[in-house]
Amino acid sequence: MTQPVCLRDLQPLVEGKLDAGPLGYFAGGATDERTLIDNEAAFARRQLLPRVLVDVSEVSTATKVLGTPISMPVIVAPVALQRMAHPDGEPGMARAAAAAGTLMTVSTLATATAREVHEAAPDAPRWFQLYVLKDRGVTHALIDEAVDCGYKALVLTVDAPRAGRRERDLRTGFAVPPGIDMPGVTAAAGHSSGLTPADFFSLVDASLTWKDLETLVEAVDLPVVVKGIHAAADARLALQHGAAAVIVSNHGGRQLDGVPAGIDMLEDVVQEVGGDAEVLVDGGVRRGTDVLKALALGACAVLVGRPLLWGLAWDGEAGARWVLDTLKAELELDLMLLGAAAPADVARHHLR
Ligand code: FNR
Ligand code: LAC
Repeated sequence: MTQPVCLRDLQPLVEGKLDAGPLGYFAGGATDERTLIDNEAAFARRQLLPRVLVDVSEVSTATKVLGTPISMPVIVAPVALQRMAHPDGEPGMARAAAAAGTLMTVSTLATATAREVHEAAPDAPRWFQLYVLKDRGVTHALIDEAVDCGYKALVLTVDAPRAGRRERDLRTGFAVPPGIDMPGVTAAAGHSSGLTPADFFSLVDASLTWKDLETLVEAVDLPVVVKGIHAAADARLALQHGAAAVIVSNHGGRQLDGVPAGIDMLEDVVQEVGGDAEVLVDGGVRRGTDVLKALALGACAVLVGRPLLWGLAWDGEAGARWVLDTLKAELELDLMLLGAAAPADVARHHLR
């Protein structure tokens, strides 16, 4: 097979192209990978219930997140080290997201600066994912650059005070390859290549608390979205400390193994804060029907991680674009078949 038909076709296509270290880093999860596996399995366990005789002659996937119009309720998750997948890297991903009409979240551990990514697609909306580093000088410089380049929100990732125990990386001896640079890491550690995930996560400030969220919200003139919420009570705390939105996420099963799938944590969070803030979810989204299930449980949008890496590894910017376009085409058809003309029409009664 040389031409993929759906997102799941991509990983087998690129497995021969990537070295074992990067492949394992991208694909892997923590310890027994129970949560990694469950992220996809949990979508499979849920069933959609179409409503019929609804006018679906005109269907639109378009929606908004935090007031920003996007072409579909699917945005690009922050994913580190994209030049390790393909030389197009984050600038290519930014152009792909812009062409598909959606929003990209740029990682603190990107292999391009926030400014380079901005310049690749200057008119497209973007969020910046923040790891608060022990080096607050570097942290503030990263924030200032994102603000200066017109990023629309900060996504504070809170589930990774250290890297999870990713045993694929231990088996391959994965370290950042020569020639791959993460400017944020290099600013804090002097270099990036040769570092293991445990090394670069050791730069993250593990002492962070809700008080620091509040300080960040006060210091920065951008909405702060908290990523890595598992418990409904923490979603409430996030809002109480100034967050504008929350992302229900287990980090693609890469942090604490044995936690529920993203989609299984969503409903409680929506029940707790859904009336007060937008709730996003990620982990295991591979199909338009997965997006429908997230919408039905009250998410305003989902994030997609690994499939975009596989797209990038397969065909650079064009491959990432293919992933987004394919998901959008699936979602459009799936909305029609569900009996909903727009994302906002998808509701709890569409799930059995
Ligand atoms: C990630 N993720 C992540 N999250 C984050 O906040 N900052 C980061 O730098 C990264 N880096 C990263 C690298 C790789 C290789 C992966 C697979 C994931 C987590 C990511 O944003 C998202 O939560 C998950 O990837 C969603 O799950 P799926 O779509 O990959 O199943
Ligand atoms: C990871 C990062 C970088 O999951 O968040 O590897």
